[in-house]
Amino acid sequence: MNYRHAFHAGNFADCMKHALLVWVLLALQRKPTPVAVLDTHAGAGSYDLASGPAERTGEWHDGIERLLRDPPAPLAGYVELVRQLGLYPGSPALVRALLRSTDQLICCELHPDEARELRRRFAHDRQVAVHQRDAWEALGALLPPRERRGLVLIDPPFEDSRELERLASGLATGHARFRNGTFLAWYPIKHRAPVRAFHTAVRRSGVRDVVATELCLREPLDPARLNGCGLLLINPPFGFETDAPIILDALLQRLSRDETGASAELTRLADE
Ligand SMILES: C[S@@+](CC[C@H](N)C(=O)[O-])C[C@H]1O[C@@H](n2cnc3c(N)ncnc32)[C@H](O)[C@@H]1O
Repeated sequence: MNYRHAFHAGNFADCMKHALLVWVLLALQRKPTPVAVLDTHAGAGSYDLASGPAERTGEWHDGIERLLRDPPAPLAGYVELVRQLGLYPGSPALVRALLRSTDQLICCELHPDEARELRRRFAHDRQVAVHQRDAWEALGALLPPRERRGLVLIDPPFEDSRELERLASGLATGHARFRNGTFLAWYPIKHRAPVRAFHTAVRRSGVRDVVATELCLREPLDPARLNGCGLLLINPPFGFETDAPIILDALLQRLSRDETGASAELTRLADE
C-alpha cells in the first residue's frame, strides 16, 4: 500500500468527486429520515495543501485553487464548504460537516497511518465510526446500514491493474446487500478500453438504475496519464441527471486548459 492521498488532495479529480458527493448527500437529506454514509476508502480525512506532499506535487493548483479563486455558481456550495473547513476536506470531513444529528458516517481505511489520523479526528464523535479494515470485505459485512437509507462511496487508490474489475464486483456485492442504497464509485480515465470494460461488467452484473459521469481534461489516449475521471452512480437521487451535467460543465470551464478532447458527460448505463 504505497498510495497516499495527500499527494493528490484537491486536484481536479477530487473536485469532481467531492462536488458530486456533496450534491448527492444533500439530495438524500431532502427527506427527514436518517441517512448513513459508508466511505469504504476514507483516506486521512483532510489535507494541508500548503506543505508536505500536496505542496510537492502542486496538483491542487489546477484543482481547488482555481475554484476558490473564482467559484462558478453551480459549485458555490461545495467551494464555500471547502473554504469554511480550512484544510482541504477529504470525503470524511465533507460528509461529517453535512451530517444532521440523526445521520451516521462509517469510515473504512486500511493504511495504518491514515486510519490513526481518522481515529484521532473522530475520537469523541458519536456519529462517526472508524474501522481499520478492508473495503471490499466491509461491503459485505457492513451493509445494509441500520438506517436502511444512505450512500456508499467507493474510492479505491487504483494501485493494482485489476482494481476496475474489483470495483465492478464490489459494487455488485454491495448492491446485493443494500438494493435501495445510492452507490458512488470513482474511477480513473487514462484510456478508454478499461473504462468500457468496467461499464460492461457493471451492466452485466444486472444492477439497475446506473449512470456514469465523466470529466476529461483531454482526449484519453495516453495510458500513463490521468486524463480524466469518472463517478459511477447506482440509484442516483431524483434530479441528478439534470444537475450533474451543469456541475460537470462548470468544472470543465474552470479546470480544463483547452486541450483537444476535453469533455464532460453523463451517460445512462442501465435503466431503472
Ligand atoms: C483515493 S484515497 C481516498 C480518498 C478519500 N475518499 C477522499 O475523497 O478524501 C484511497 C484510500 O484507500 C486506502 N485503501 C487502499 N486499499 C484499501 C482497502 N483495501 N481497504 C480500505 N482502504 C484502502 C488508501 O490507504 C487510501 O487512503
